[in-house]
Amino acid sequence: MLVSENPALSEESVAAAVAAALAAIAGAADSAAVKAVRAEHLGEHSALALLNAQLRSVPNEQKALFGKLVGGARAQVNEAFAAKDADIAAAEMARRLESEAVDVTAIAVPGRSGSRHPLSLIQERVSDVFVGMGWEVAEGPELESEWYNFDALNFDADHPARAMQDTFFVEPLSSHLVLRTHTSPVQVRSLLERDLPVYVVCPGRVYRTDELDATHLPVFSQIEGLAVDKGLTMAHLRGTLEHFARVMFGDDARIRLRPNYFPFTEPSAELDIWHPAAKGGPRWIEWGGCGMVNANVLRAAGIDPEVYQGFAFGMGLERTLQFRNDLGDMRDFLEGDIRFSQAFGMVV
Ligand code: FA5
Ligand code: MG
Repeated sequence: MLVSENPALSEESVAAAVAAALAAIAGAADSAAVKAVRAEHLGEHSALALLNAQLRSVPNEQKALFGKLVGGARAQVNEAFAAKDADIAAAEMARRLESEAVDVTAIAVPGRSGSRHPLSLIQERVSDVFVGMGWEVAEGPELESEWYNFDALNFDADHPARAMQDTFFVEPLSSHLVLRTHTSPVQVRSLLERDLPVYVVCPGRVYRTDELDATHLPVFSQIEGLAVDKGLTMAHLRGTLEHFARVMFGDDARIRLRPNYFPFTEPSAELDIWHPAAKGGPRWIEWGGCGMVNANVLRAAGIDPEVYQGFAFGMGLERTLQFRNDLGDMRDFLEGDIRFSQAFGMVV
Protein backbone atom coordinates (compact mmCIF):
# COMPACT_ATOMS: atom_id res chain seq x y z
CA MET A 1 0.00 0.00 0.00
CA LEU A 2 1.44 3.33 -0.96
CA VAL A 3 0.92 6.22 1.37
CA SER A 4 -0.90 8.81 -0.66
CA GLU A 5 -2.03 11.46 1.84
CA ASN A 6 0.60 13.81 3.11
CA PRO A 7 0.29 14.43 6.90
CA ALA A 8 1.84 17.62 8.20
CA LEU A 9 5.42 17.38 9.41
CA SER A 10 5.40 16.92 13.18
CA GLU A 11 7.01 14.77 15.87
CA GLU A 12 3.84 12.66 15.93
CA SER A 13 3.63 12.11 12.19
CA VAL A 14 7.33 11.10 12.01
CA ALA A 15 6.91 8.74 14.99
CA ALA A 16 3.83 7.21 13.36
CA ALA A 17 5.73 6.62 10.06
CA VAL A 18 8.59 4.99 11.94
CA ALA A 19 6.22 2.83 13.98
CA ALA A 20 4.39 1.70 10.82
CA ALA A 21 7.70 0.86 9.11
CA LEU A 22 9.06 -1.08 12.10
CA ALA A 23 5.83 -3.08 12.40
CA ALA A 24 5.90 -3.96 8.70
CA ILE A 25 9.57 -5.00 8.89
CA ALA A 26 8.87 -7.18 11.90
CA GLY A 27 6.06 -8.93 10.01
CA ALA A 28 8.10 -9.67 6.84
CA ALA A 29 8.85 -13.40 6.70
CA ASP A 30 11.23 -13.72 3.73
CA SER A 31 13.43 -11.65 1.45
CA ALA A 32 10.62 -11.05 -1.06
CA ALA A 33 8.39 -9.60 1.68
CA VAL A 34 11.26 -7.41 2.93
CA LYS A 35 11.72 -6.05 -0.56
CA ALA A 36 8.06 -5.01 -0.76
CA VAL A 37 8.15 -3.44 2.72
CA ARG A 38 11.29 -1.51 1.80
CA ALA A 39 9.59 0.00 -1.25
CA GLU A 40 6.52 0.93 0.78
CA HIS A 41 8.29 2.50 3.77
CA LEU A 42 11.47 3.95 2.31
CA GLY A 43 10.52 4.40 -1.34
CA GLU A 44 9.76 7.59 -3.25
CA HIS A 45 6.09 7.70 -2.17
CA SER A 46 6.61 6.51 1.39
CA ALA A 47 5.41 8.54 4.37
CA LEU A 48 9.00 9.23 5.41
CA ALA A 49 9.94 10.47 1.92
CA LEU A 50 6.94 12.78 1.84
CA LEU A 51 7.67 14.13 5.34
CA ASN A 52 11.29 14.65 4.30
CA ALA A 53 10.13 16.68 1.28
CA GLN A 54 8.28 19.07 3.60
CA LEU A 55 11.60 20.11 5.22
CA ARG A 56 11.95 22.66 2.42
CA SER A 57 8.95 24.65 3.61
CA VAL A 58 9.82 24.56 7.33
CA PRO A 59 10.71 27.99 8.83
CA ASN A 60 14.47 28.49 9.02
CA GLU A 61 14.76 28.47 12.82
CA GLN A 62 13.06 25.03 12.94
CA LYS A 63 15.02 23.46 10.05
CA ALA A 64 17.74 21.93 12.26
CA LEU A 65 15.25 20.40 14.68
CA PHE A 66 13.03 18.79 12.00
CA GLY A 67 16.03 17.84 9.90
CA LYS A 68 17.40 15.85 12.83
CA LEU A 69 14.01 14.35 13.53
CA VAL A 70 13.46 13.03 9.97
CA GLY A 71 17.14 11.99 9.51
CA GLY A 72 17.05 10.05 12.80
CA ALA A 73 13.79 8.37 11.79
CA ARG A 74 15.21 7.24 8.43
CA ALA A 75 18.38 5.93 10.12
CA GLN A 76 16.27 3.95 12.61
CA VAL A 77 14.23 2.35 9.81
CA ASN A 78 17.39 1.58 7.80
CA GLU A 79 18.94 -0.15 10.79
CA ALA A 80 15.82 -2.24 11.28
CA PHE A 81 16.03 -3.32 7.62
CA ALA A 82 19.72 -4.24 7.98
CA ALA A 83 18.97 -6.37 11.05
CA LYS A 84 16.06 -8.05 9.23
CA ASP A 85 18.21 -8.80 6.17
CA ALA A 86 20.81 -10.49 8.36
CA ASP A 87 18.12 -12.57 10.15
CA ILE A 88 16.59 -13.72 6.89
CA ALA A 89 19.97 -14.63 5.34
CA ALA A 90 20.83 -16.70 8.42
CA ALA A 91 17.42 -18.43 8.39
CA GLU A 92 17.66 -19.22 4.69
CA MET A 93 21.18 -20.67 5.12
CA ALA A 94 20.02 -22.79 8.06
CA ARG A 95 17.11 -24.14 5.97
CA ARG A 96 19.49 -24.99 3.12
CA LEU A 97 21.98 -26.74 5.38
CA GLU A 98 19.19 -28.81 6.82
CA SER A 99 17.66 -29.79 3.48
CA GLU A 100 21.06 -30.69 2.00
CA ALA A 101 22.32 -32.54 5.03
CA VAL A 102 23.85 -35.99 4.42
CA ASP A 103 23.27 -38.68 7.00
CA VAL A 104 26.68 -40.31 7.12
CA THR A 105 25.36 -43.01 9.42
CA ALA A 106 22.61 -44.13 7.02
CA ILE A 107 22.87 -47.69 5.66
CA ALA A 108 23.84 -47.60 1.97
CA VAL A 109 21.39 -48.95 -0.60
CA PRO A 110 23.62 -50.89 -3.03
CA GLY A 111 23.13 -49.56 -6.57
CA ARG A 112 22.64 -52.15 -9.29
CA SER A 113 25.61 -51.79 -11.59
CA GLY A 114 25.38 -53.18 -15.10
CA SER A 115 28.05 -55.24 -16.81
CA ARG A 116 29.15 -55.89 -20.35
CA HIS A 117 27.75 -58.86 -22.23
CA PRO A 118 30.01 -61.93 -22.00
CA LEU A 119 30.06 -62.19 -25.79
CA SER A 120 31.60 -58.74 -26.10
CA LEU A 121 34.09 -59.67 -23.41
CA ILE A 122 35.11 -62.94 -25.04
CA GLN A 123 35.49 -61.29 -28.44
CA GLU A 124 37.99 -58.90 -26.91
CA ARG A 125 39.67 -61.66 -24.92
CA VAL A 126 40.29 -63.91 -27.93
CA SER A 127 41.44 -60.93 -30.01
CA ASP A 128 43.90 -60.05 -27.25
CA VAL A 129 45.34 -63.57 -27.26
CA PHE A 130 46.22 -63.25 -30.95
CA VAL A 131 47.24 -59.59 -30.84
CA GLY A 132 49.67 -60.74 -28.14
CA MET A 133 51.27 -63.01 -30.78
CA GLY A 134 51.52 -60.19 -33.33
CA TRP A 135 48.30 -60.91 -35.24
CA GLU A 136 45.89 -58.17 -36.34
CA VAL A 137 42.13 -57.86 -35.95
CA ALA A 138 40.21 -57.77 -39.26
CA GLU A 139 36.57 -56.91 -39.96
CA GLY A 140 33.94 -57.65 -42.55
CA PRO A 141 30.23 -56.90 -43.06
CA GLU A 142 27.43 -59.09 -41.71
CA LEU A 143 25.41 -58.40 -44.88
CA GLU A 144 27.85 -60.05 -47.25
CA SER A 145 27.99 -60.65 -50.97
CA GLU A 146 27.45 -64.23 -52.02
CA TRP A 147 30.79 -64.07 -53.79
CA TYR A 148 32.79 -63.56 -50.58
CA ASN A 149 30.63 -65.91 -48.49
CA PHE A 150 30.71 -68.78 -51.04
CA ASP A 151 32.29 -68.33 -54.50
CA ALA A 152 35.66 -66.94 -53.45
CA LEU A 153 35.77 -69.71 -50.83
CA ASN A 154 35.62 -72.34 -53.55
CA PHE A 155 31.97 -73.33 -53.11
CA ASP A 156 30.67 -74.37 -56.61
CA ALA A 157 27.53 -72.58 -57.81
CA ASP A 158 25.41 -75.65 -57.14
CA HIS A 159 27.62 -77.18 -54.49
CA PRO A 160 25.52 -78.80 -51.76
CA ALA A 161 27.73 -77.03 -49.24
CA ARG A 162 25.81 -73.82 -50.00
CA ALA A 163 22.74 -75.49 -48.57
CA MET A 164 24.82 -77.27 -45.91
CA GLN A 165 25.07 -73.99 -44.02
CA ASP A 166 21.44 -73.08 -44.22
CA THR A 167 21.59 -69.59 -45.54
CA PHE A 168 19.44 -66.48 -45.11
CA PHE A 169 19.36 -65.10 -48.66
CA VAL A 170 18.42 -61.43 -48.99
CA GLU A 171 15.72 -60.27 -51.40
CA PRO A 172 15.84 -59.46 -54.22
CA LEU A 173 17.85 -62.60 -54.92
CA SER A 174 19.42 -60.77 -57.86
CA SER A 175 21.31 -58.64 -55.29
CA HIS A 176 23.36 -61.77 -54.47
CA LEU A 177 23.52 -60.69 -50.83
CA VAL A 178 23.35 -63.06 -47.86
CA LEU A 179 23.60 -62.73 -44.11
CA ARG A 180 27.07 -64.21 -43.75
CA THR A 181 26.88 -67.83 -42.60
CA HIS A 182 30.39 -67.84 -41.16
CA THR A 183 33.29 -65.42 -40.61
CA SER A 184 35.32 -67.10 -43.37
CA PRO A 185 34.48 -64.41 -46.02
CA VAL A 186 36.81 -62.16 -44.03
CA GLN A 187 39.64 -64.46 -45.17
CA VAL A 188 39.31 -63.33 -48.78
CA ARG A 189 38.61 -59.69 -47.83
CA SER A 190 41.77 -59.63 -45.72
CA LEU A 191 43.89 -61.18 -48.47
CA LEU A 192 42.63 -58.63 -51.01
CA GLU A 193 43.12 -55.68 -48.66
CA ARG A 194 46.44 -56.49 -47.02
CA ASP A 195 50.05 -57.05 -47.95
CA LEU A 196 51.56 -60.47 -47.30
CA PRO A 197 52.28 -62.06 -44.93
CA VAL A 198 48.83 -61.91 -43.33
CA TYR A 199 48.04 -62.93 -39.75
CA VAL A 200 44.51 -61.88 -38.80
CA VAL A 201 41.65 -62.84 -36.52
CA CYS A 202 38.08 -61.71 -37.01
CA PRO A 203 35.46 -62.11 -34.28
CA GLY A 204 31.92 -61.43 -35.44
CA ARG A 205 28.27 -62.32 -35.73
CA VAL A 206 27.00 -64.89 -38.24
CA TYR A 207 23.53 -66.13 -39.25
CA ARG A 208 22.05 -69.53 -40.10
CA THR A 209 18.53 -70.85 -40.36
CA ASP A 210 19.31 -73.28 -37.51
CA GLU A 211 16.56 -74.08 -35.02
CA LEU A 212 17.01 -72.45 -31.64
CA ASP A 213 17.96 -75.07 -29.02
CA ALA A 214 20.33 -75.52 -26.08
CA THR A 215 23.40 -75.80 -28.35
CA HIS A 216 22.36 -73.89 -31.51
CA LEU A 217 21.38 -70.29 -32.19
CA PRO A 218 20.20 -68.77 -35.49
CA VAL A 219 22.45 -65.79 -34.75
CA PHE A 220 25.76 -66.63 -33.15
CA SER A 221 29.39 -65.54 -33.12
CA GLN A 222 32.57 -67.01 -34.48
CA ILE A 223 36.22 -66.13 -34.38
CA GLU A 224 38.01 -66.62 -37.67
CA GLY A 225 41.77 -66.95 -37.89
CA LEU A 226 43.89 -66.75 -41.04
CA ALA A 227 47.64 -66.93 -41.53
CA VAL A 228 49.23 -66.74 -45.00
CA ASP A 229 53.00 -66.76 -45.22
CA LYS A 230 55.84 -68.70 -46.81
CA GLY A 231 56.38 -72.22 -45.51
CA LEU A 232 53.33 -72.61 -43.26
CA THR A 233 52.31 -76.19 -42.49
CA MET A 234 49.68 -78.13 -40.57
CA ALA A 235 52.14 -78.17 -37.63
CA HIS A 236 51.88 -74.37 -37.36
CA LEU A 237 48.09 -74.67 -37.39
CA ARG A 238 48.09 -77.27 -34.66
CA GLY A 239 50.58 -75.35 -32.50
CA THR A 240 48.51 -72.18 -32.81
CA LEU A 241 45.30 -73.99 -31.87
CA GLU A 242 46.93 -75.71 -28.90
CA HIS A 243 48.20 -72.40 -27.59
CA PHE A 244 44.79 -70.80 -28.07
CA ALA A 245 43.04 -73.71 -26.31
CA ARG A 246 45.40 -73.50 -23.32
CA VAL A 247 44.94 -69.77 -22.93
CA MET A 248 41.17 -70.15 -23.06
CA PHE A 249 40.68 -73.39 -21.11
CA GLY A 250 43.78 -73.75 -18.95
CA ASP A 251 47.11 -75.58 -19.24
CA ASP A 252 45.45 -79.02 -19.21
CA ALA A 253 43.33 -78.27 -22.28
CA ARG A 254 43.49 -80.92 -25.01
CA ILE A 255 42.45 -80.60 -28.64
CA ARG A 256 41.89 -83.16 -31.39
CA LEU A 257 41.76 -82.73 -35.19
CA ARG A 258 39.40 -85.03 -37.11
CA PRO A 259 39.50 -85.17 -40.93
CA ASN A 260 36.59 -83.26 -42.40
CA TYR A 261 35.63 -81.34 -45.52
CA PHE A 262 35.42 -77.60 -46.15
CA PRO A 263 35.63 -76.28 -49.74
CA PHE A 264 38.03 -73.52 -48.69
CA THR A 265 40.60 -75.67 -46.87
CA GLU A 266 42.55 -78.74 -48.00
CA PRO A 267 43.21 -80.77 -45.96
CA SER A 268 40.38 -79.83 -43.60
CA ALA A 269 39.67 -80.88 -40.04
CA GLU A 270 37.04 -80.59 -37.39
CA LEU A 271 38.54 -79.21 -34.19
CA ASP A 272 37.40 -80.89 -30.96
CA ILE A 273 38.13 -79.86 -27.40
CA TRP A 274 38.24 -82.28 -24.48
CA HIS A 275 35.49 -81.45 -22.02
CA PRO A 276 36.23 -83.23 -18.73
CA ALA A 277 33.24 -81.68 -16.94
CA ALA A 278 30.65 -82.39 -19.66
CA LYS A 279 27.22 -83.51 -18.48
CA GLY A 280 27.02 -87.28 -18.86
CA GLY A 281 30.78 -87.70 -18.49
CA PRO A 282 34.02 -86.43 -20.05
CA ARG A 283 34.04 -86.32 -23.85
CA TRP A 284 35.27 -84.55 -26.97
CA ILE A 285 33.09 -81.68 -28.18
CA GLU A 286 33.23 -79.91 -31.57
CA TRP A 287 34.70 -76.45 -31.11
CA GLY A 288 35.29 -75.36 -34.71
CA GLY A 289 36.68 -76.14 -38.13
CA CYS A 290 40.16 -75.61 -39.59
CA GLY A 291 42.60 -76.56 -42.31
CA MET A 292 45.23 -75.44 -44.81
CA VAL A 293 43.89 -72.67 -47.06
CA ASN A 294 42.79 -74.21 -50.37
CA ALA A 295 45.02 -73.20 -53.31
CA ASN A 296 41.89 -71.99 -55.16
CA VAL A 297 41.16 -69.47 -52.38
CA LEU A 298 44.72 -68.12 -52.61
CA ARG A 299 44.31 -67.86 -56.39
CA ALA A 300 40.97 -66.00 -55.99
CA ALA A 301 42.93 -63.41 -54.01
CA GLY A 302 45.72 -63.26 -56.61
CA ILE A 303 48.27 -65.16 -54.49
CA ASP A 304 50.58 -67.81 -55.94
CA PRO A 305 50.03 -71.03 -53.95
CA GLU A 306 53.45 -72.26 -55.08
CA VAL A 307 55.03 -69.46 -53.04
CA TYR A 308 52.61 -68.89 -50.16
CA GLN A 309 50.70 -71.29 -47.92
CA GLY A 310 48.11 -70.59 -45.31
CA PHE A 311 46.08 -72.06 -42.51
CA ALA A 312 42.69 -70.99 -41.20
CA PHE A 313 40.30 -71.84 -38.40
CA GLY A 314 36.87 -70.78 -37.15
CA MET A 315 35.30 -71.49 -33.74
CA GLY A 316 31.95 -70.73 -32.20
CA LEU A 317 32.24 -68.15 -29.41
CA GLU A 318 28.99 -69.04 -27.60
CA ARG A 319 30.22 -72.61 -27.60
CA THR A 320 33.58 -71.46 -26.23
CA LEU A 321 31.82 -69.78 -23.32
CA GLN A 322 29.50 -72.73 -22.93
CA PHE A 323 32.35 -75.21 -22.23
CA ARG A 324 34.45 -72.74 -20.37
CA ASN A 325 31.74 -71.56 -17.98
CA ASP A 326 29.55 -74.68 -17.92
CA LEU A 327 26.48 -73.03 -19.36
CA GLY A 328 23.61 -75.45 -19.76
CA ASP A 329 21.60 -73.54 -22.32
CA MET A 330 22.86 -71.31 -25.13
CA ARG A 331 19.50 -69.55 -25.30
CA ASP A 332 20.54 -67.55 -22.22
CA PHE A 333 22.79 -65.53 -24.54
CA LEU A 334 19.70 -64.10 -26.23
CA GLU A 335 17.42 -63.48 -23.25
CA GLY A 336 18.94 -60.16 -22.23
CA ASP A 337 18.56 -60.98 -18.52
CA ILE A 338 21.07 -58.76 -16.73
CA ARG A 339 21.71 -61.47 -14.10
CA PHE A 340 23.22 -63.67 -16.82
CA SER A 341 25.75 -60.99 -17.80
CA GLN A 342 26.45 -60.05 -14.19
CA ALA A 343 27.46 -63.61 -13.34
CA PHE A 344 30.45 -63.18 -15.66
CA GLY A 345 31.55 -59.85 -14.16
CA MET A 346 33.80 -57.75 -16.32
CA VAL A 347 36.34 -60.44 -17.16
CA VAL A 348 35.89 -63.74 -18.98
C1 FA5 B 1 32.47 -73.10 -40.25
O1 FA5 B 1 31.65 -72.18 -40.10
C2 FA5 B 1 33.77 -72.83 -40.99
N1 FA5 B 1 33.72 -71.51 -41.58
C3 FA5 B 1 34.92 -72.97 -40.00
C4 FA5 B 1 36.27 -72.95 -40.68
C5 FA5 B 1 36.99 -71.77 -40.71
C6 FA5 B 1 36.79 -74.12 -41.27
C7 FA5 B 1 38.25 -71.76 -41.34
C8 FA5 B 1 38.01 -74.08 -41.90
C9 FA5 B 1 38.74 -72.91 -41.90
P1 FA5 B 1 31.11 -74.87 -38.88
O2 FA5 B 1 29.87 -74.76 -39.68
O3 FA5 B 1 31.47 -76.21 -38.39
O4 FA5 B 1 32.35 -74.31 -39.68
O5 FA5 B 1 30.99 -73.87 -37.65
C10 FA5 B 1 32.09 -73.62 -36.79
C11 FA5 B 1 31.65 -73.56 -35.34
O6 FA5 B 1 30.62 -72.61 -35.16
C12 FA5 B 1 31.04 -74.85 -34.82
O7 FA5 B 1 32.03 -75.77 -34.50
C13 FA5 B 1 30.32 -74.36 -33.59
O8 FA5 B 1 31.23 -74.10 -32.53
C14 FA5 B 1 29.80 -73.02 -34.07
N2 FA5 B 1 28.41 -73.13 -34.53
C15 FA5 B 1 27.96 -73.62 -35.70
N3 FA5 B 1 26.62 -73.54 -35.79
C16 FA5 B 1 26.19 -72.95 -34.63
C17 FA5 B 1 24.93 -72.54 -34.11
N4 FA5 B 1 23.79 -72.69 -34.80
N5 FA5 B 1 24.88 -71.96 -32.88
C18 FA5 B 1 26.02 -71.77 -32.19
N6 FA5 B 1 27.24 -72.10 -32.61
C19 FA5 B 1 27.35 -72.69 -33.82
MG1 MG C 1 31.13 -78.03 -37.98
